[in-house]
Amino acid sequence: MIEFSNVSLSYGKNVVLNNISFKADFHEKIAILGGSGEGKTTLLRLLLGLVRPDSGMVVIDGQDITHMPESKLRDMRLRFSIVFQEGALFDSLSVRENTAFFIREYTDKSEEEIETRVRELLRVLGIEEAIDLMPEELSGGMQRRAAIARSLGGCQPRMMLYDEATTGLDPLTAHNICNLINDLSKGKPPDRVGFIIVTHKVTDATKVAERYMYIKNGMIAFDGNLEQLRNAENEELRRFTDELHTAEQYE
Ligand SMILES: Nc1ncnc2c1ncn2[C@@H]1O[C@H](COP(=O)(O)OP(=O)(O)O)[C@@H](O)[C@H]1O
Ligand SMILES: [Mg+2]
Repeated sequence: MIEFSNVSLSYGKNVVLNNISFKADFHEKIAILGGSGEGKTTLLRLLLGLVRPDSGMVVIDGQDITHMPESKLRDMRLRFSIVFQEGALFDSLSVRENTAFFIREYTDKSEEEIETRVRELLRVLGIEEAIDLMPEELSGGMQRRAAIARSLGGCQPRMMLYDEATTGLDPLTAHNICNLINDLSKGKPPDRVGFIIVTHKVTDATKVAERYMYIKNGMIAFDGNLEQLRNAENEELRRFTDELHTAEQYE
């Protein structure tokens, strides 16, 4: 369980998150929606203890991580696989070495076991044939797959975190990544590995998520399911989800 209680964070005069509270279970499929600069990535960083709130509390699995020292955060972070939007892959490492990175870092597997695990992950992600390629040689979609493979390397996540997983991809590739995100979220609640996908692409979010949170002006302006999202009366949210309503007309 993830709990944010009255969390606020500012950078100088820039109030990024203003007193936000929510609870989420690890098996949930959540999309955090919001325009550019609204604090979506910051929220993921707070959740992992990569930044600390100015006030409020972040609790993961009953443990208050708000001021937990860096050395103790590691175990908590291993509950999550994390695909960050920026610099998802190490440019100078092959797909094999990228995928092996966190396996080396967080486990004491032998080289042979690492190779087996790398191949297994790349097979699951559908890019085994790219094992010897460098990131620059991959298409955008394959880069995302490799980044997801790498994020899964070091842990057996309870929940997967994706920051803008489909941003910058053409619609078909984005659709395929959405399918992959669904496939990776295995099992049934409460054992299911859930996810939080942070995105400004509403139509991609609706292919995967069951719960939607919309961040505006540092606050959670909406939190509900797809039907509630479609019927939301919040003007800004309606503008934001416009493509959803337009897409509906052609369904
Ligand atoms: N390390 C930082 N120092 C100063 N300002 C930052 C930092 N990280 C993010 N911000 C600012 O915080 C706001 C929210 O950023 P971010 O969480 O990246 O938004 P989003 O992911 O929704 O696009 C933006 O105004 C951004 O410029
Ligand atoms: Mg962001």
